[in-house]
Amino acid sequence: MEEIVLPAPAKINLALKVKGLRADGYHELEMIMQTIGLHDRVHLKKIAGGIRVVSSHPGLPEGSGNLAYRAAEFILEQSGIDGGVEIFIEKNIPLAAGLAGGSTDAAAVLKGISKLYQLKISDEVIREMASKLGSDVSFCLKGGTSYAYGRGEQLEQLPDLNKIHIILITPPVEVSTAFIYREYDRLKNGLEIPVSRLVEIIKQGKEINWQEGWANDLEPVTARLFNDIYEIKGILKEMGVKFSLMTGSGPTIFGILDKGEEALFIKDNWPRKEDFVFVTSTVKQEFSELW
Ligand code: C5P
Repeated sequence: MEEIVLPAPAKINLALKVKGLRADGYHELEMIMQTIGLHDRVHLKKIAGGIRVVSSHPGLPEGSGNLAYRAAEFILEQSGIDGGVEIFIEKNIPLAAGLAGGSTDAAAVLKGISKLYQLKISDEVIREMASKLGSDVSFCLKGGTSYAYGRGEQLEQLPDLNKIHIILITPPVEVSTAFIYREYDRLKNGLEIPVSRLVEIIKQGKEINWQEGWANDLEPVTARLFNDIYEIKGILKEMGVKFSLMTGSGPTIFGILDKGEEALFIKDNWPRKEDFVFVTSTVKQEFSELW
């Protein structure tokens, strides 16, 4: 095998609770994470040596500033193979948007290089590398629906949800995750988020009631800095979305709909022309892992 192409799907946080600041500077979290259909495509090609990253997006760093580059460097070094890789990232996931776009590319690079070079490397070792690369990379390796804790790298796989139709709205604002967490620490106004109860609801395969406490502790923090967040949620509500929430540290908002057509209607009539708008749905684990 000389080349391989892997889809790298985005994630949303159906719930995100910050439990506290840890001694290592990270935050102890409890999250419910979900793979969605929006995806990049990561093309990997064997080359004689070194790592080259090229992308369809001009804003994406092409050297070690790119997490996909660091993932390649890590797995090539660890496995001690004689050879390099050229990575082409077909970027569809908005950058720094709370959708784990960088983490999912990195996860695809780990899986892809392992396949490309037929490395005799255990899943355990790949998972270890993933968690060192970033807090969301471990989830991106596995996908589906997970309860995530610790920094976000500790995972418990949950049963797949019935397909949920989703509209994503990403306003054109730049959000630094590290800054949002610092603001969270300064403001100290966590929400009541009954994560264990929400996990139980999923485990029991019950119908989700979106009024039951699905929330994100970082949403009010990012919303204080950017009016776009509540403005978008307001418009979604007026347009008939029964529930919306910011994902990760933002700024993307996802809205939940009963039917795909409702999501398409909102996309076609979305009034804020500056936003990235995308219609998608949840993806089952069996498919996200195949990717
Ligand atoms: O792990 P990752 O590189 O994705 O995290 C980006 C930044 O987000 C970290 O440098 C940290 O400031 C913040 N973060 C955190 N607690 C977490 C995950 C991320 O404080 N559990």
